[in-house]
Order: sequence, then C-alpha cells, then structure tokens
Amino acid sequence: MTEILQINNLHTYFNTDTAVARAVEGASFNISKGETLALVGESGCGKTVTALSIMRLVPAITGEIVQGEIIFQGHNLLNLSEFEMRAMRGQKIGMVFQEPMSSLNPLFTIGYQIQEAILAHQRMSKQQAKSQVIELLNKVEMPEPGQRYSDYPHNLSGGLRQRAMIAQALAAHPELLIADEPTTALDVTIQAQILKLFSRLKQTKEMSILLITHDLGVVAEIADRVCIMYAGRIVEEAGVLPIFNQPRHPYTDGLLKSIAARNYSRQRLMVIPGVVPEPANKPGGCAFHPRCRRADLTCRREMPEHLETESGHKVSCWHPL
Ligand SMILES: Nc1ncnc2c1ncn2[C@@H]1O[C@H](COP(=O)(O)OP(=O)(O)O)[C@@H](O)[C@H]1O
Ligand SMILES: [Mg+2]
Repeated sequence: MTEILQINNLHTYFNTDTAVARAVEGASFNISKGETLALVGESGCGKTVTALSIMRLVPAITGEIVQGEIIFQGHNLLNLSEFEMRAMRGQKIGMVFQEPMSSLNPLFTIGYQIQEAILAHQRMSKQQAKSQVIELLNKVEMPEPGQRYSDYPHNLSGGLRQRAMIAQALAAHPELLIADEPTTALDVTIQAQILKLFSRLKQTKEMSILLITHDLGVVAEIADRVCIMYAGRIVEEAGVLPIFNQPRHPYTDGLLKSIAARNYSRQRLMVIPGVVPEPANKPGGCAFHPRCRRADLTCRREMPEHLETESGHKVSCWHPL
C-alpha cells in the first residue's frame, strides 16, 4: 500500500518558564492511502501536539518542531513555506479540532462557514457553493440540511455541531482527515452516531483518516490500524485485531483492561497506577517504567527499541507480553 503520510522521528518541544516540555519526542508512524489509523493514549501523551505538528499549527511563541520529518504525499511539510502550507490545510488535509468551539465562528451561520471553506479552494458561483454545502451536510447525515444551513453554531446540539465541523473539514475533499477526539465531548448515544458516520466515510476509501482518541474502546469498529502513544512516542502499533487480541505492551494491556473495568462497573477504575509524566520531567529509560509491573533495572536505564514482533506488529518494550 502506498503511504500518504510518514512521520519520522518527530520532536515537538515547548519552552516553558522553567523547563523544556518534550511533548512529542521521537514519534514515528505511517498512514496508508485509504487507511483509518487510530492514535490512542491517555490525556497528555502528545496526540494533539502531533496533529498540530502535521498541520504546522504548533503555537509559534513557545512551541517548535525541533527534529524529524512529516512527509505528506512525498513532500516534507516542514520544508514548505507558510504560503504553501496554507494551501495544504483544508485542501489536502482537513482537521476537526479537539476544542469544539475553536473551528466554528459563533457569529456566522453554519452554511456560510462551510461555504467559505469550499470557496477558499475552488472557484464557483455562490449558488453552486450553496448546493455543495447542502450536499456535504447530507454526507455527514445532518437532519434537514436545508434548514440547518441558516443556523448559527449555538442553535445546534453538540452532536449536530460536530457534524457541521466534520462537513467543514471535508469541504475541499481532503485526502487526509485528522479528527482529534471527535466524540469525547458527546454523550454515549451521539458518540455512537458520530463513530458510525466515520465508518461510513471511510468506506469510500478515497480518504485516509487519522482518528485521535484517549479511549481505546471507540476504535474497534472503525480503525484499520492502531498506534498507541505514551509520553510523546509510539510504544505499540498493529492492526486493530492484534491490538485487541494480543497486545504486547503493558500500557496497551492496561488501556484494554480499563475498558473492561469501565464496562463492568460503569465507572472509571484506576487499572494503570500513576499518571502520565509531565513532558518536562520524564523518567529515564522506558518512560512507562514507573507505572509498569514488569519493569526492572534495564527498563529504568535504557529506552527500548521499537521492534517488530510479528509482521506489522511493533512494540517498544524490554519485556513484552
Ligand atoms: N502550548 C503548550 N505549552 C506547553 N506545553 C504544552 C502546550 N501544548 C501542549 N503541551 C503539553 O504537551 C503535552 C502533550 O499535550 P497534548 O498533545 O495536548 O496531549 P494529548 O492530546 O495526548 O492529551 C501535555 O503535557 C501538555 O501539557
Ligand atoms: Mg488532545
């Protein structure tokens, strides 16, 4: 399969008052054409910073991509000018942001904003653009798209607003769609509907999807492949079935067990002890070692390599399961 995106050894750091926060530190992964890749890890692992790095939207005052390559369709995005990058955003790479209100302007109607996203990259009459907006609203299964066109963001429920944002991200028919926690703010029923929408969108196979989530439970039905992120690196990657059936990294195993525990008790149980380390203060060796039952002296001292255990299944662990 041809790769649409290759991330090689990405390092994105923030300069804070007291220290350097190494939010992403040596992340590498690929997405193939037509593939849906889930990037999964607890909050604070560096998922959003990875997505912002791909879009070259890391806050410039404190943040910087200090090392690595982001190869999109054969070109390193890190070498593009801001002008070239602007054409890339929206047109080739669409993004649904984690902050729900950040991509929709409360002062303009849904229809107007999606239309602007279309007209930014294509020449057509206002009338043609409007009918494309309605078509897009249909595609994201917005009920009564003709009426919703004239609604303002605050008129819509959280689920419908999320559909509008997805429509906006799809406006220029991007080849890669990045969706950062697209269902996290929604209640369970609406969450299921949005996930169904993603699985229908992926069936067309025209578009690759990078689905970012802290909840491994939501990826089973839509991801082709899964990358597990911890403390700014990919610690395990495999097809969706091997991730669920035969996780190798103790962290992945912990994430799976916490889904099981949650389903059982209907509340979040602390299956993995401790918390994600601050990126300015990460432990040496394997960053997961303070939380890991299998950790020994080697884990405390040396960073494990990312090695293939079976075809397509890689893990960074000295003592994989
Ligand atoms: N603008 C910033 N300045 C300083 N630290 C940041 C900034 N943005 C993110 N970080 C830090 O980088 C780490 C990873 O953040 P993020 O990518 O948002 O995690 P995730 O999306 O996996 O929850 C976090 O510890 C966060 O505090
Ligand atoms: Mg995030």
